[in-house]
Amino acid sequence: MKIVSIKNLAVSYGEKNVLENITLDISEGVLCGIVGMNGSGKTTLLKSILELVKIKSGEIRIFDNVLKNVRQKIAYIPQRATIDWDFPAMVEEVVMMGRINPKNLFSKPNKNDKEIVRKTLEQVGLINFTNRQISELSGGQQQRVFLARALAQEAELYLFDEPFAGIDKATEDDIILILKALQKEGKTIIIIHHDLNSIKDYFNELILLNKTLVAYGKTEDIFNKKNLETTYNGRLPMFF
Ligand SMILES: Nc1ncnc2c1ncn2[C@@H]1O[C@H](COP(=O)(O)OP(=O)(O)OP(=O)(O)O)[C@@H](O)[C@H]1O
Ligand SMILES: [Mg+2]
Repeated sequence: MKIVSIKNLAVSYGEKNVLENITLDISEGVLCGIVGMNGSGKTTLLKSILELVKIKSGEIRIFDNVLKNVRQKIAYIPQRATIDWDFPAMVEEVVMMGRINPKNLFSKPNKNDKEIVRKTLEQVGLINFTNRQISELSGGQQQRVFLARALAQEAELYLFDEPFAGIDKATEDDIILILKALQKEGKTIIIIHHDLNSIKDYFNELILLNKTLVAYGKTEDIFNKKNLETTYNGRLPMFF
């Protein structure tokens, strides 16, 4: 089964076209990177999958279904700058939000939920911050809280918008190991990522985006100088 299937997607903000002619099928169990310049439409692509933007044309199916029927199977971390970090909530509460069933908002967390929250906080190295206010954490620590929330949800599909921005290298290494373990369990993970140096090591598939799809496929097949030049409008970062 295709986990995400996109056909002829186009998105515009007002008159401005930001995505055109995007067609791709993402299979189960891939760890897929989305790579492209600032403004190339990466965030908009993830938001289209989540119906957070209105699409101009095209069709998106998730788990061969429509979003509203599969929402609980999807974990999403938005790009950090867009999150309001000032709301009063404890770290543990934020992560517990990953356990809340949107169909039953008032159900009480059970023992299993509490254990999963504990485990994910441990995984992201925040077990000693359980009862702290999220507003008192550093930017990188806050980002880890939101990652823990996504993990606690035990989703099938993970959509992460630059999860490593502002995260130290050691933590990033830990998190990538967690994500690779999820991939081994058959989960599908799609990550917007800027660091070209780690692409080959992290992702087995890539989406190269520059308003249209430059290339989509196995990293070993498409991560090359020619495609990156098209992705970065000829201004290839010092890489090849
Ligand atoms: N809400 C909006 N209203 C109008 N234009 C928008 C809106 N959101 C994004 N855009 C524009 O759409 C284009 C694509 O934006 P998007 O956020 O998808 O880029 P991105 O690839 O995620 O960039 P970055 O690497 O900087 O996060 C940009 O030109 C941006 O200015
Ligand atoms: Mg973005």
